[in-house]
Amino acid sequence: MKGFSDIILREMNNPSPIREIMKMAEPKNIISMGLNPSDVISFGGGWVDHIAPEELMESYREIVSSGESFHFSGGYSPTSGFEETRESIKKFENILFNQNLNSENIIIGGSSSQLTIDLFRILLNDGDRIILPDPTYANYTGQLAFVSRNIKIERIKFLDENSWKYLENKNEIIEKISEEFKDKKVKAMLLVSPDNPTSQILPEDFVDELLKIADDTGTYIIFDFAYKTQYFSETFPKYFSYSPEKHPSMITVNSNSKWGRGLGRRMGWIEANADVVNAMERMQQASILCPDTLHQMAFTKFVEKMGNRLRDYIDRVRMEYRKSSEITSKAIEENLGFRYLKSMGGLYIVADAGMDSDEFVIDVLKHTGVIFVPGKGFGPSLKNGIRISYGPLVRKNQKIIEGMERVGKYIRSRKGSY
Ligand SMILES: Cc1ncc(COP(=O)(O)O)c(C=O)c1O
Repeated sequence: MKGFSDIILREMNNPSPIREIMKMAEPKNIISMGLNPSDVISFGGGWVDHIAPEELMESYREIVSSGESFHFSGGYSPTSGFEETRESIKKFENILFNQNLNSENIIIGGSSSQLTIDLFRILLNDGDRIILPDPTYANYTGQLAFVSRNIKIERIKFLDENSWKYLENKNEIIEKISEEFKDKKVKAMLLVSPDNPTSQILPEDFVDELLKIADDTGTYIIFDFAYKTQYFSETFPKYFSYSPEKHPSMITVNSNSKWGRGLGRRMGWIEANADVVNAMERMQQASILCPDTLHQMAFTKFVEKMGNRLRDYIDRVRMEYRKSSEITSKAIEENLGFRYLKSMGGLYIVADAGMDSDEFVIDVLKHTGVIFVPGKGFGPSLKNGIRISYGPLVRKNQKIIEGMERVGKYIRSRKGSY
């Protein structure tokens, strides 16, 4: 190909493994495997499928039904978002997590995906290093690749593929991170909690220890909080309520996508110390100019309408996902018999297929019409692991059981050939 940058040429040859399997599951490919696309059961998607709250729909309706406010929604917003919307974010976080924020510590963006890549751009120089857990969300490596050709990613193993335990040796892991943070080239560590793909929630003492080391060494801990509202325990971990004022080395990336089924109505925000927020504002002038006006207006109206009822809505929704996760766990035990990590929140369960997961996933798809995501893209620890998403099936729990039964039957018929 002529005329493209070296980075894109390199990355075109390095597509996301998740996209690859989803492409393989497109109807024309399914038909060519001799399967009926309508019989396919997908545990592949990284999205939520609960119904968005009526009050959110009402908020949009009110905006578009008035000529004046519809006209206003077609205008630019300030680069860091409307002051009013940042006030609503403060309220949202306070109602849900008892968090006390200042609006100087918030910047609104187009989505958490955009905010993450822009955050990498403001933090990282050529030759810098960033620490990612193994496994972690597959998109970060691609995003980092587009920031510079020379960012070094250090992986620290959180999942032991032999014992299939997560953060088994917490102290050893903290020790390793602490060593890494002493290197000035290490700018940040990026954590996800609840996690994609493991759906684990990082323990409070672990996070507190890391924040202490980060403060001492001048390193940032970035939290991707895309699934923050989807914890399954009675209470959320303490660090969900930390403020950047008290924890200046903590940067959190937040998203509208999951809590309100707003994946197509994209808006995200960062909570961080004022220096990071100011740098992000400069960055966004170049990358997006400003976040979406309509979604900011709707968010503001929605938070106003809901007040403390927001808690009830979030509690109801997270319990729906907890129920689907429990159904998935039981179906894995009864049909697959694989080792797996019990979901603590979010949309996923990772399980040990006991063989190369690329091969396993393709074979299972061809013979059963069931789609899993192979784990390798999340990190080497999941070479034999698969990611099972129950999120897209939250309103179709029967499909979870049906899919697992199909795969179980196939696995039993193949016993000895794997
Ligand atoms: C960990 C994580 N972060 C970010 C995103 C994307 O969020 P957004 O829709 O806000 O870009 C996802 C999507 O699946 C995710 O799993």
